Amino acid sequence: MESNKNFKILVTGGAGFIGSHVVRRFVTSYPDYSIVNLDKLTYAGNLENLRDIEKMPNYQFIKGDITNMTFVNALFKEHEFDAVIHLAAESHVDRSIQDPLSFVTTNVVGTVNILNAALATWKDHFENKLFYHISTDEVYGSLGESGYFTESTSYDPKSPYSASKAGSDHFVRSYENTYALPVVITNCSNNYGPYQFPEKLLPLMIHNIRNNKPLPVYGTGENIRDWLFVKDHADAIDLVFHSGKKGETYNIGGFNEWKNIDIVRLLCRIMDDKLHRQPGTSEKLIEFVKDRPGHDQRYAIDAAKISSELGWKPSVTFEQGLEITVDWYLENIAWLDHVTSGAYKTYYDSQYRNR
Ligand code: NAD
Ligand code: TYD
Repeated sequence: MESNKNFKILVTGGAGFIGSHVVRRFVTSYPDYSIVNLDKLTYAGNLENLRDIEKMPNYQFIKGDITNMTFVNALFKEHEFDAVIHLAAESHVDRSIQDPLSFVTTNVVGTVNILNAALATWKDHFENKLFYHISTDEVYGSLGESGYFTESTSYDPKSPYSASKAGSDHFVRSYENTYALPVVITNCSNNYGPYQFPEKLLPLMIHNIRNNKPLPVYGTGENIRDWLFVKDHADAIDLVFHSGKKGETYNIGGFNEWKNIDIVRLLCRIMDDKLHRQPGTSEKLIEFVKDRPGHDQRYAIDAAKISSELGWKPSVTFEQGLEITVDWYLENIAWLDHVTSGAYKTYYDSQYRNR
């Protein structure tokens, strides 16, 4: 996208973990842009993630559901967005195993609703318009001991979550092929960092270590993930939004593979130190529990394309990112307590009651 002072950008899912970092990044870096954050505020959406920027003049929050076609169409008519950065999704694999249909509804139907509304609004006037779809490396399935996911790796999703994300990616590409809608897709590896809901591995372990609760490691803990600091993902999204080539896919990864058990042990050591516990104290909390059904063995991204074509690379090492993350959770106990107690849900009412 050629940078344009008056861009009006719709960010969907901006009250979630990655979305809140993307919203903050765009609102603070581009004061001339208008950023509209559309979020249903499911259990994963939390406006406390955006308290520091919620009063900025170029930011607006709208509560709404991407699966509601009438609402989405009316929103696009009212706002005439120039671009969409689409993050809203159901994002947790374990929940998708319990309730696959809600993933189809949000991730596939919701995405098609947004695609249709963008298409109808832009009506073949696609110049300087962009539909940017945020996706995951999990669409590529599971790797063995060697190899990496590249942009040309065949899709082979293995969980209801990754199947629904793969479906949404296919729809996005089909709209480019069929209607010439200007699209770009990025597929990113596992993110970690501040504001992540504590049902995902790292914040769950940080929360449990702090509270001396068991640390549930699935199976033998040998599964491998490629971890990326969330702000580096937001940097990559900014870069692809402004400099990515329309119609292209870019993989984003941390060049940073870890076995789950090793990452949990590392966290235990860091937190023993931060909490002034005897070395080895937190590790005693580790419990190996029943494995996740169909648990993908290994994800690893080859991020050579975005590095060589757009010059992106992670800005922090894993050690630095993890330290920032642990410190953030320990300094933001109120945020974590609100999320785990459900109190964050009342924030919307108190914040928006009189608006
Ligand atoms: P998240 O679960 O923290 O946030 C999702 C947000 O979407 C929430 O704010 C939620 O309220 C909102 N939402 C859900 N259903 C909605 C609906 N029907 N209408 C409007 N809003 C709705 O997820 P996340 O981890 O921030 O992931 C964001 C995106 O990035 C997702 O598309 C996910 O697939 C993708 N992704 C995540 C990771 C990761 O490691 N977390 C990695 C790669 C890609
Ligand atoms: P998760 O954060 O759910 O991300 P994803 O499944 O999308 O990669 O899980 C990361 C890894 O950690 C995954 O291999 C499953 C494992 N895991 C556990 O061992 N225990 C847990 O309590 C959780 C939530 C995940």
